Amino acid sequence: MSQPKQPFDGLTLDIKHLSIAFQTRQGSVTVVDDISLNIGKGEIVGVIGESGSGKTIASLAVLGMLPRGARVLEGTVHLSGDSLLDQPESYQRAIRGDRVALIPQDALRALNPTLQVGLQVGEPLTLHRGISWTTARKKAVELLRSVELRDPEQRADEYPHQFSGGMQQRAMIAMGLSTEPELLIADEPTTALDVTVQAQVLDLLRNIRDTHGTSILFITHDLGVVATLCDRVYVMYSGAIVEEGPVEQIFSNPSHPYTRGLLDATPRVHGTLTGLKPIPGQIPLPDARPVGCRFSDRCAFAGAECRQTPPAVTVQEGHVAYCVKALELELEA
Ligand SMILES: Nc1ncnc2c1ncn2[C@@H]1O[C@H](COP(=O)(O)OP(=O)(O)OP(=O)(O)O)[C@@H](O)[C@H]1O
Ligand SMILES: [Mg+2]
Repeated sequence: MSQPKQPFDGLTLDIKHLSIAFQTRQGSVTVVDDISLNIGKGEIVGVIGESGSGKTIASLAVLGMLPRGARVLEGTVHLSGDSLLDQPESYQRAIRGDRVALIPQDALRALNPTLQVGLQVGEPLTLHRGISWTTARKKAVELLRSVELRDPEQRADEYPHQFSGGMQQRAMIAMGLSTEPELLIADEPTTALDVTVQAQVLDLLRNIRDTHGTSILFITHDLGVVATLCDRVYVMYSGAIVEEGPVEQIFSNPSHPYTRGLLDATPRVHGTLTGLKPIPGQIPLPDARPVGCRFSDRCAFAGAECRQTPPAVTVQEGHVAYCVKALELELEA
């Protein structure tokens, strides 16, 4: 089937001006508001932001898996040049689990409790490559070995509840890798794991990128994880991107007050627990955002000029902050 293409520019994922709304009893509520985000081949890109900022909903649009009641209002999403929106469900199903794989937060819930792990890991190959279950199971054992699961031959015959949390997450990653996807979307895949296991899973993801050139979209609210894993990061706040840039830039020179607040509230990145300063207030509900800059009601630097839509201020090449005061803040840093 021929699909609309855009000239391939080396970007694995290219989201432009994407807006998504939920239809509620109160009317339409925009939860993702005009976001643009791209990922080059072999790049690991983080999306960070507080709970409710729209990280998961934006990624579900890429997978064609928006929940009931949610609708794309505008924007485009391309995977290696192929348009993913406005496609028949059959097309999105063919992409999902083949060219794009999701590693969810809760691996146990995502796994089928009644099916042996080896069969689940090999299932995408039977669905998308038409290979037999016997061959898929053999391949699954190799995949489980590649994610450094011990005794993969024996483990393949076990059920998910016989696996620890870290092993379940490895099994999900093995399943995601089975079709050698261009893009892995990892939605908080390590939040349920203890710190040591979390570090092992991050190492594994980095190895996958280094070995296969896989592009990875990594969603988290943990800046420490972004610092150890990602090349670039997008900071989301209340449905919008407020700052984006190379990770070292964002950490050394955060130029949006919200990003600064996140850094100040993150012990592992910014000094010790004694230096912790939580951001006062709460993320506004999507239907109760302040006029202009949506962070202005929590921002120590806000003034009258913040009542207008914030401009995109280029701090350095590739580093952009959506704040009218971004350059003033830089001077203060
Ligand atoms: N099924 C739904 N119906 C109505 N609103 C929803 C639904 N699912 C999510 N939302 C709203 O969409 C917004 C974005 O939610 P989303 O799950 O993308 O946030 P998130 O950044 O992934 O948060 P978290 O860090 O908690 O996972 C939130 O305001 C949420 O309340
Ligand atoms: Mg989420």
